[in-house]
Amino acid sequence: MTSRLTRPLVGFALSFVAAAACQAATITISCGSNAADLEFCGKFAEEWGKKNGHEVKMYTPPASTTDNLALLRQQFAAKSSDVDVIMIDVIWPGVIKDHLVDLKKYSKGVESTHFPAIVTNNTVDGKLLGMPWFTDAGLLFYRKDLLEKYGVKPPQTWDELAAGAKKIMDGERAAGSADFQGFVFQAKAYEGLTCDALEWVHSFGGGEIVDKAGNITINNPQAAKALDTAASWIGTIAPGGVLNYGEEDARGVWQNGKAAFMRNWPYAWSLGQAADSPIKGKIGVAALPAGTGPGAKKAATLGGWQLAVNKYSKNVDAAAALVMYMTSAEIQKKRAVGGSYNPTIPALYKDADILKANPFMGELLDVFTNAVARPSTATGLKYPEVSQTFWDATHEVLSKKSKGADAVKKMETKLKQVKRNKW
Ligand code: GLC
Repeated sequence: MTSRLTRPLVGFALSFVAAAACQAATITISCGSNAADLEFCGKFAEEWGKKNGHEVKMYTPPASTTDNLALLRQQFAAKSSDVDVIMIDVIWPGVIKDHLVDLKKYSKGVESTHFPAIVTNNTVDGKLLGMPWFTDAGLLFYRKDLLEKYGVKPPQTWDELAAGAKKIMDGERAAGSADFQGFVFQAKAYEGLTCDALEWVHSFGGGEIVDKAGNITINNPQAAKALDTAASWIGTIAPGGVLNYGEEDARGVWQNGKAAFMRNWPYAWSLGQAADSPIKGKIGVAALPAGTGPGAKKAATLGGWQLAVNKYSKNVDAAAALVMYMTSAEIQKKRAVGGSYNPTIPALYKDADILKANPFMGELLDVFTNAVARPSTATGLKYPEVSQTFWDATHEVLSKKSKGADAVKKMETKLKQVKRNKW
């Protein structure tokens, strides 16, 4: 029995323990680098901080995922605690697995409401290293108004795209828009080119570079044909400058009303539809075209981002709580409606508000559920080298320094060296 004297002491001790458990922390989150990322990540993270008595700081990672990973690896090597919540690319879990916290203790099973394939992707050696945040797949954006003006139908094959892009480009240039482009995409030597080129290769029936069992499959005639086809666009329907374009470079040209077609990720939809966008109301979205020849089909590369907790963070519990909040259905819905970030929770694809804001999320649902994964699971820690081999050789073909057939042969030789005995 507690005496009258000890009771207040027990009360004091308990409130001390409670205060310590939710001690105010400063949490730094990496949110992405474009305007929408700041609005639709930063804002919600700050709201969470205010509600929970924590200070939230935003960290802007490099725009290119390749530069982003390089910097992150340096930070991990230094065991830096600077960024607590890290946004990680779908291809990274196997590469940075040793530096992330297992979120199972915090998620309490809620990951089962997300797409199982993404959860599997994010689970390495039984540890849940990232909560799915948004998913991506390559899409074809087109100018509805211009396709109609020139009697061009949304293309089903790359040949149709090239012909339609040429017709519109020639017409618009003749009408005085001297710098108008037919097609813009990502062809800088970086991970984004791996995404675009995997779409070309897969759509021609040329496989996935390395198959799920770890076999190197890139050296085949259909893959070579796909790369040669893409090279034929440079200087005809696409500007030479595309060889230095990332996502935002392509979107800049497109959103300025200077291109008929663009390959990009879903985020480009909400920015293009913004009140101040010159092409608001003129945008159509379709699946990317198919190639031709044996095994040809439509293909989109699977992208997407997860939220993870840095193992070297000084505030793991608070950081994990922020991850769970930001990846919740409530926040994913707000991000989808406002920023066209595709949810990772299947149930949200039936949400009327999300479908109204982003009709393509319903119309092209199969593009998202059937997207082709890059071979990051099969190649594990070696994935960055595999991807660089692929984008470098592809960039040479696009720059007309080599032909598709030589490039895929060279890739096979190099990939065998990267693989040595096994991945
Ligand atoms: C997008 C994708 C990501 C991909 C990157 C390439 O951000 O979501 O998975 O690696 O583009 O630039």
